Amino acid sequence: MLQTVPAPPPPDVTPAAPAMLAIRGLHAAYGQSEVLHGLDIAVAPGEIVAVMGRNGMGKSTLMKTLMGILPATSGTIAIDGHDVTGLKSHARVARGLAYVPQGRMIFSTMTVQENIETGLTVTGARRVPEDLYAMFPVLLEMKDRRGGNLSGGQQQQLAIARALASRPKVLLLDEPTEGIQPSIIREMGRTLKAIRDARGLSIVVSEQVLSFAMDVADRVLVIENGAIVHESLRADIDEAQVARFLSV
Ligand SMILES: Nc1ncnc2c1ncn2[C@@H]1O[C@H](COP(=O)(O)OP(=O)(O)OP(=O)(O)O)[C@@H](O)[C@H]1O
Ligand SMILES: [Mg+2]
Repeated sequence: MLQTVPAPPPPDVTPAAPAMLAIRGLHAAYGQSEVLHGLDIAVAPGEIVAVMGRNGMGKSTLMKTLMGILPATSGTIAIDGHDVTGLKSHARVARGLAYVPQGRMIFSTMTVQENIETGLTVTGARRVPEDLYAMFPVLLEMKDRRGGNLSGGQQQQLAIARALASRPKVLLLDEPTEGIQPSIIREMGRTLKAIRDARGLSIVVSEQVLSFAMDVADRVLVIENGAIVHESLRADIDEAQVARFLSV
């Protein structure tokens, strides 16, 4: 007769909260030239992570690979537990990913309202939800103006509103402060935190401006030549050390 082996006791460690965005061993390349060399990043629900790095270090390549604009050569990307690595961009948006590209890329001949409406496609909604205009009152005032006639700061708000129109779980912003004046940068920081608090979404923002990252991020990563070379919680950050990574 077989002896029954007693079941092992359950492990007494509590598993960490599952990541809202989980990036594992991510590699990406332009043709033969590899730019991302195996990134591992986990972003918790409601967490704001800043990815900092100098020009050409791979920030936009990371964003484009997450969005499926550039295919990953290996590694995996999961949103809220669902692997999206093989999905096209629009399917990733349907899974909860949204993107504010570097340079904002708003449609300059379309009105503000039409720009936001382009973000609605995956939700099935026809009209811009009221709460988006409540978040960005200036866009309501300007809803019939052409996007190209807005200031840089207003265009950035428009790009964020368009991204939020798809009701994302994870919002990616690629250098949102680029070309924006300091007072507007501070306002943008407040807006992003308010959005996170109101919607509980996770945010990954690439940046070169340390003061902005210190303002918004819960955690700061530094990317150098396509690899994460430093990580710290905002509370523990050695600003001088991070500044050295960012200086040329
Ligand atoms: N379309 C492309 N084809 C080939 N190489 C590219 C392409 N886009 C970027 N690269 C290269 O990939 C590397 C990373 O570029 P990336 O645009 O990701 O940097 P970045 O951190 O976003 O820089 P920046 O702060 O200037 O926006 C650089 O060496 C860049 O020259
Ligand atoms: Mg870039």
